[in-house]
Amino acid sequence: MQRSEKYLLFFTFFLNLSYLFIVLYTEITKTHNLIQMATLTTQHMGVTLKNPLILGACNLSNNLDKLIEAEKAGVAALVYRSLFEEQIQLEDNDLSNQLEAYDERNAEMINLFPKIEHGGPKEHIHNLKQVVEALSIPVFASLNAVYKESWVEYALQLEATGVAGLELNFFSVPRDFDKSGHDVILQQIESLKAVKAAVKIPVSVKLSPFYTNVLKTIKDMDDAGADAFILFNRLFEPDIDVEAEKHVSPWNLSTHSDHRLSIRYIGLTHGNLNASVAANNGIYEGIDMVKMILAGASAVEAVSTFYHNGVGYAAEMLKELEEWMDRKEYDSIEAFRGKLSSKSINDPFVYKRAQYIDMLLKSEEHFNAVI
Ligand SMILES: Cc1cc2nc3c(=O)[nH]c(=O)nc-3n(C[C@H](O)[C@H](O)[C@H](O)COP(=O)(O)O)c2cc1C
Repeated sequence: MQRSEKYLLFFTFFLNLSYLFIVLYTEITKTHNLIQMATLTTQHMGVTLKNPLILGACNLSNNLDKLIEAEKAGVAALVYRSLFEEQIQLEDNDLSNQLEAYDERNAEMINLFPKIEHGGPKEHIHNLKQVVEALSIPVFASLNAVYKESWVEYALQLEATGVAGLELNFFSVPRDFDKSGHDVILQQIESLKAVKAAVKIPVSVKLSPFYTNVLKTIKDMDDAGADAFILFNRLFEPDIDVEAEKHVSPWNLSTHSDHRLSIRYIGLTHGNLNASVAANNGIYEGIDMVKMILAGASAVEAVSTFYHNGVGYAAEMLKELEEWMDRKEYDSIEAFRGKLSSKSINDPFVYKRAQYIDMLLKSEEHFNAVI
């Protein structure tokens, strides 16, 4: 064999070896990546969820097929729609005929049950039990009562369905000119304490943002034993049809930018509470989940996005969350949760008077942008 042939042979052998090495390296890295794949597991109100995406309370609860589809698409849990005091009070009456009397009381409830035929608590509890049995993900119940006795009695009945936890929907619309805000809060804290004392399952509180200082309310409810907060509820608002000159109650879906309010208060509460916090309102995309977790949320509850995009969209949202985590090399939710909370960042203005400071410093820029 000539010298040049020897070199060629050696060179070919070397090339083959390098190729083999590259193939082996790629395979090993792939396997390693599979093992290292980000875990989306999180804790919400003390319950372990496989990922942070919860289907929030809404009328999709009425459709078991949709709930099964949502479970298949990957949602980690769901909140069954609220049982309302009106359903409880009207159990033995003809509900449809009685509703007018309640028209001013609870726009949300009227909107949800325009034609009640089977709206009583017995039916509600029966259907909820069926959902709990049909699904393997955790199902949470939700209750919106008025009287202390109803809170406790129905919390117990909802607990008996086998739900993983109970959400107290503190939907409260001021109607009384003589009742102070403080009295409303005290009554809600009393209800929370009474329910906590009665049931064994975790209890969360879903609040509206309409408190003078919602942070103090949250802190007081945290001290009273709330296991989680859902920030924030979206209240149903009546509208007016000017042609018919009458009130109408439209579906009240959120818009995408609504999630910014939650970012602020989740960012402010993170690291200051015993309870965990779930974000709600205007969470449409996987990236919105990322934002909420960066602010400090343990989970998110989404509804409107599923009305717009179908419940199968949960898979897209989760894919987007995972892709972002991979790109940023985060291997768990905890690795970035609260990274941009008020406590973690060095900028005292971001969560407080952010927009005013921004406007002061960049007033010319903003002005030029709008003209
Ligand atoms: C049709 C419909 C029904 C709802 N029913 C309930 C309910 O029974 N209990 C409750 O706490 N919230 C209820 N909500 C409010 C949602 O759970 C959620 O707080 C709100 O829609 C904001 O989240 P989103 O922006 O993801 O829609 C309902 C919302 C819709 C659109």
